[in-house]
Amino acid sequence: MDLQSAKNRVRELHTLLNHYNYQYYVLDQPSVPDAEYDQLMQELIGLEAKFPELNSPDSPSQRVGGGVLESFEKVEHRVPMLSLGNAFSPQDLRDFDRRIRQVVGDDFSYVCELKIDGLAVSLHYQDGVFVQGATRGDGSIGEDITANLKTIGSIPLRLKEAVSLEVRGEAFMPKRSFETLNKAKEEKGEEPFANPRNAAAGSLRQLDPKIAASRNLDVFLYGIAGAGEVGITSHSEGLNWLDSLGFKTNRERKLCPDIERVIEFVESWVEKRPNLPYEIDGIVIKVDSLGQQEELGTTAKSPRWAIAYKFPAEEVVTTLRDIELNVGRTGVITPTAILEPVRVAGTTVQRASLHNEDLIREKDIRLGDQVVVKKAGDIIPEVVNVLVERRTGMEREFVMPTHCPECESELVRFEDEVALRCINPKCPAQIREGLIHFVSRNAMNIEGLGEKVISQLFAENLIHDVADLYKLNREQLIGLERMGEKSIQKMLAAIEASKENSLEKLLFGLGIRHVGAKAAKTLAMEFETMDRLAVATSEELKAINEIGEKMADSVLTYFGMDEVTELIEELKAASVNMQYKGPKRVLAEESDSFFSGKTIVLTGKLEQLTRNEAKEKIEALGGNVAGSVSKKTDLVIAGEDAGSKLTKAEELGIEVWNEERMIEELNK
Ligand code: IVH
Repeated sequence: MDLQSAKNRVRELHTLLNHYNYQYYVLDQPSVPDAEYDQLMQELIGLEAKFPELNSPDSPSQRVGGGVLESFEKVEHRVPMLSLGNAFSPQDLRDFDRRIRQVVGDDFSYVCELKIDGLAVSLHYQDGVFVQGATRGDGSIGEDITANLKTIGSIPLRLKEAVSLEVRGEAFMPKRSFETLNKAKEEKGEEPFANPRNAAAGSLRQLDPKIAASRNLDVFLYGIAGAGEVGITSHSEGLNWLDSLGFKTNRERKLCPDIERVIEFVESWVEKRPNLPYEIDGIVIKVDSLGQQEELGTTAKSPRWAIAYKFPAEEVVTTLRDIELNVGRTGVITPTAILEPVRVAGTTVQRASLHNEDLIREKDIRLGDQVVVKKAGDIIPEVVNVLVERRTGMEREFVMPTHCPECESELVRFEDEVALRCINPKCPAQIREGLIHFVSRNAMNIEGLGEKVISQLFAENLIHDVADLYKLNREQLIGLERMGEKSIQKMLAAIEASKENSLEKLLFGLGIRHVGAKAAKTLAMEFETMDRLAVATSEELKAINEIGEKMADSVLTYFGMDEVTELIEELKAASVNMQYKGPKRVLAEESDSFFSGKTIVLTGKLEQLTRNEAKEKIEALGGNVAGSVSKKTDLVIAGEDAGSKLTKAEELGIEVWNEERMIEELNK
């Protein structure tokens, strides 16, 4: 085939594939068998390989996922991607309505839409061609995930008109795809996703677009950035225009003349919600007229013309079969409810932490009880309460044991703690949990080496401490369950790669009492090497702002142990990095900012910056942001509705500023 005929055929294939794609993904009306679509796609990929000059960024072949990226570029949003205020009751909605009427009078209408539970995306089209897609990020700067978004069938690569615009919408994973994905993950011994939202976000955050391509993601578009500029006068008109351009919008929207009709719509969806093929977490209510939207304006974070009605977390009833006791890394005994498996908020739940004995007593939880279960924050399963009226008399009270379920040594309860602890340092459960902690994401982040594999390695006596991980070899691993050649290679590579981690990851991974991820970072930044930290004195440690007496003592005790010295020597021998590699601390003398060297506490609601933004700015100037007010605090920044921290600052006579004063100083 010559170039000219190839060019014609490629053009034809684009049209055909785009058309079939639209019918399948946007209209949900497949018009050709999958095999035929695949064949045309293969033909296109073949032609593009033969004639590379015919490749184009809007080619349907992009949907299968191109090359792996090194990182995501940052994208600045021209129009900020705001979030929405929340309503939790009809009363909240009536209050919202009153605020609107105070500004625009009585003549207006609302559009109600489903609030899709996924992640916000922004899509840029230039002359009808999809050129860039980004995540929301912090609202002003997101990440360029164009390659991943191109793999979503319902995102048109070319529009039906050659217009330039930016559309906003929600990318999500349908319930069925989520279930299939989690099942496959579990079969491979991997950690399943907690909900479809995390699964969608996790898929779009992968640098290899082939992963996103395999995940069956979908999208609903719900808005146009700068809609007024493209000659549209209402939100509903905008949605209809998006439909005509070939975008996928959600059909379940409704124009409502007043708030009572809105409330009816909201209530109707409480029941219908479980039947949808995707998750929603509420209803979004928007003032329809763009003119009135503009009149109402926005606050720093959200528009005044829209609100999200949030459904209450789903609650289900199930039976408490048993209470299991787990020994944590620090010896704390945690009771866990073993439940009759039940579906709640998208996943099957069969365990829920009961935290401690006091909670079991407080809620009067008994074995065999009917209990109400929900997912707190839609992620962590929790026993809400017991249905006492359903008791049959067969339920049994739970008795906490006096000895460790794993090593049988006697349990102790320290004076100021609610938890029972096993204090045997050789307790196998504690060692195993310590190993699991060492490989976890915020610690050494060794992928492929999860809880299950560690437990197996430990049970088989292949590892006794964290240094043993660096002595593992292929022969030892090959005999383990579900361990193929490929996963072994990956795991060994991940172990190898972890040797290069910066010091704070190792420090956190070692599990020194009271040293969390943040403190580990502070210590690593301050002392820079393990050897320097190991010989730090109590005074040196306590001189650091965030390190208190308790933590300093714990660090001293830790490095005072001979076993620790030996362990560190072993890790060094295995070439595990012992140096801090992160950004240098801004030394007080290097910054002449007012904030330099000072400890600052932020409290209350800030209007112009988020807490995190303020914190980053202060830290960049050499200041230190702490979580609570103490004698060491130099300054408190109090936003709106500041509470107990402000009172404490006043009691201690600490200087207090408002947000404006802080911004003035930050900008100096
Ligand atoms: S409108 C300026 N409409 O909910 C208003 N948002 O906090 C922009 N969401 O992150 C949002 N479905 O991604 C709107 N039909 C819908 C939505 C929706 C889901 C998400 C959105 C945003 C969050 C609001």
